Amino acid sequence: MNGGGMVMDRPGGPWKPVDQTFPALSHTLDTEVCIVGGGFIGIVTAYLLARRGYRPVVVEAGRIGCGAVRMSTGTALSQHRLRSAHLWKRHGESVARAYYDVHEDALSWLERTCRRLDARCDLKRTPSWLLAENVDHVQQLEEEAEAYFKLGMDGRMADKPPVPFTGLPALKMNDQIQLDPVRFCSKLVRWLSLENIQLYEQTRAVDIVRGKHPSVVLENGKMIRARHIVCATHYPLQHLSSRLQLERAAAGVFTMPETMEEGIFTTLSDPSWAFRSLSDGKLLVSGGAERVSRKTDPHVLRDELRRWVKEHFPEAAEEKIWTLQQVRTSDRMPLAGPVEAGKKDLYTATGFGPWGLSGGVAGAQMIADHISGMRNRWSYLFTPARFEAKQELPNVVRHAASYVKGRIQRRECQSLEDLQPGEGALVRQEGIRTGAYRGENGDLYMVNPECTHAGCEVQWNRVNTTWDCPCHGSCFDVEGNVLEGPAVKPLERFYTMEKRK
Ligand SMILES: Cc1cc2nc3c(=O)[nH]c(=O)nc-3n(C[C@H](O)[C@H](O)[C@H](O)COP(=O)(O)OP(=O)(O)OC[C@H]3O[C@@H](n4cnc5c(N)ncnc54)[C@H](O)[C@@H]3O)c2cc1C
Ligand code: FES
Repeated sequence: MNGGGMVMDRPGGPWKPVDQTFPALSHTLDTEVCIVGGGFIGIVTAYLLARRGYRPVVVEAGRIGCGAVRMSTGTALSQHRLRSAHLWKRHGESVARAYYDVHEDALSWLERTCRRLDARCDLKRTPSWLLAENVDHVQQLEEEAEAYFKLGMDGRMADKPPVPFTGLPALKMNDQIQLDPVRFCSKLVRWLSLENIQLYEQTRAVDIVRGKHPSVVLENGKMIRARHIVCATHYPLQHLSSRLQLERAAAGVFTMPETMEEGIFTTLSDPSWAFRSLSDGKLLVSGGAERVSRKTDPHVLRDELRRWVKEHFPEAAEEKIWTLQQVRTSDRMPLAGPVEAGKKDLYTATGFGPWGLSGGVAGAQMIADHISGMRNRWSYLFTPARFEAKQELPNVVRHAASYVKGRIQRRECQSLEDLQPGEGALVRQEGIRTGAYRGENGDLYMVNPECTHAGCEVQWNRVNTTWDCPCHGSCFDVEGNVLEGPAVKPLERFYTMEKRK
């Protein structure tokens, strides 16, 4: 049987999964708010609404808290590379200030909530450092520091950051946050379940019907009719894709002979790398992000990560490495709020790049405020309605071009005989292009490599042991089950030669 609804646990990630499990939804129901996606933003939105007396229903395709949040590095920041100077130049002082304030407010909310729920998620206020690796970087940091000063932000240049590999000045911002984001989600989930909020796992939404009677259509054919639907699926199910870009990055945990200095560190290099220590003293590194395309090779990303760690922390020993995706918008500002201005049927929260924990809290607050009719003074920053057709055109064209490329470009096939245990590749079987994976015990898994979202050909990801789509980032396990959308249907599974006989 082709797996259909069952979703396996995602590979990778430094955090232990949420400690509760929930049933699948097997009947049709009516509710005021349905949240699709039980990840970080979906759970925070549910919590905010439930505290205001709403009874949201959450449906999660896999396990709650096991998506991108489980693979993240667990930092919540207001220091977003060179954003302050950039926003000031591009949009003026008020937008630069609001962008900082909305993230600072999110950090305070995280800390307050952690305290209120006694979350014990290793949340710690700690400095965040932007590291220069050459004199141009220093100049960029000085410009950013000037914006900090003019905006009254809590940060300044420091002569020497506490890291072993750069003697150049760095830009320090005080009181940023590191935490175990899944343990934080666990605590919210426990609170929600004690309040009898309905949470469902292994329940995949396959469609959202808009209009007078909005509803979420589930893979098993059941429906959830709701006045408000929040799509918190990391990459949205079916709307907005021309405004979004996907990047794939690598991350890993490394053991260190000595505990490193506390703090969150991000290099200004391109690609950029970020690192922090875990509560047990291990080093957590992520970065190397590049735009997802047919050329993206997770194996190369993994090697880049290894090379960077070896160069900067020669004594670090690799424990595990994984790759993950982040979603950005064409104007680098997240999208959170009603998908269409003036409508209250469908909301989205996406495009947070590497800052989905601080930005995600802010986005969840904007959505919860909109649903409950409260004013949010920052909602204009993330509003999906900000895009105009004229401004959108180049993105639509770029998106269409990369999609067409993804559909027509074909990688070379390998021979099935050469496929070693633990390896996957595109092979030609009786003239048909096939995605084949040979398990460690020699079992063959074969799928149709045509992505069920919009037909691009998936590529083998040797690091995560998944099939990944270069067009909009869907990921599938070796049996073809969807691990990450926007695809909602599994890859067609081909029977192996042995079974056919
Ligand atoms: C290398 C790297 C490191 C990062 N580190 C950080 C960090 O330190 N700090 C930070 O702020 N951000 C970080 N991020 C970004 C951050 O991980 C994400 O922005 C954040 O986790 C997004 O939360 P989310 O709720 O949107 O997504 P998720 O946590 O992925 O939740 C989405 C959920 O929706 C579910 N879902 C999907 N489709 C369906 C469907 N059809 N039906 C039902 N459910 C569905 C998924 O299974 C998933 O559980 C990092 C990103 C990268 C690439
Ligand atoms: S074609 Fe869109 S994710 Fe594969």
